[in-house]
Amino acid sequence: MEIVIVDSSEDGAVIVADAIGRVVSSGVSPTLGLATGGSPLGVYRELIARSRAGTLRLADTTCFLLDEYVGLAQDHPESYRSFIRREFTDHTDIADEAVHGPDATAADLSGAAERYEAAIRGAGGIDLQLLGIGSDGHIGFNEPSSSLGSRTRLKTLTEETRRANARFFDGDADAVPRYALTQGIGTILEARHLVLLASGPAKAEAVAAAIEGPLTASLPASALQLHPHATVVIDGTAASLLERTDYYRATYDAKPEWQEI
Ligand code: F6R
Repeated sequence: MEIVIVDSSEDGAVIVADAIGRVVSSGVSPTLGLATGGSPLGVYRELIARSRAGTLRLADTTCFLLDEYVGLAQDHPESYRSFIRREFTDHTDIADEAVHGPDATAADLSGAAERYEAAIRGAGGIDLQLLGIGSDGHIGFNEPSSSLGSRTRLKTLTEETRRANARFFDGDADAVPRYALTQGIGTILEARHLVLLASGPAKAEAVAAAIEGPLTASLPASALQLHPHATVVIDGTAASLLERTDYYRATYDAKPEWQEI
């Protein structure tokens, strides 16, 4: 796992946008896995700026959402489908039909989850998956105790997650849906490159446990330890409880030019 400690989220966004730029320009039909929430917003802003400036072409890119709330209509402003359109894809040349999410409005949610897995497989898998991390260590909506081999399925959100996401629902945790369809940890681990973004002191404990703690279903983000190409991009406050920051900083500073994240 590579740990990149940045001075600001903006610096992190540039590093991650560069990596995405390499993926979309090198593949014939590149695929991106997209997270919602606050953590990836800087990356989306950077990609939009590059797209508008004409320095980044995303037209051939297919996108797969990490998760979707159950119980919100697809056009609800806080559905993850609406979020990603509003914050990212609508401002680029990514076609709306090329943005896929699990169908959390389906009557048969297990069937919808299987169809989503098939769609990801059918697109050749995900080249680069963006991730955030919950303060309880979740990735996607794989809450603590999620199987490390799990696939896309229905999950119940913890009260901690619903409280954290209340900010998108006028501060009302009760308005945050109780369930979501989420890519499983096994699904996420099949992406070719995982990039986890985190900033702020509220993430420090989960970040330290994910990177330096034991591999455990109790801290789903620790599953990144299993992946051959995982990059964690964090600011100093999110890195504040890590023990080996000197080593991570020295390694990144001494990286050979040719070696990308
Ligand atoms: C979002 C998602 C979640 C968030 C996590 C962090 O699609 O799957 O795992 O990445 O809850 O959220 P923020 O970035 O808002 O702190």
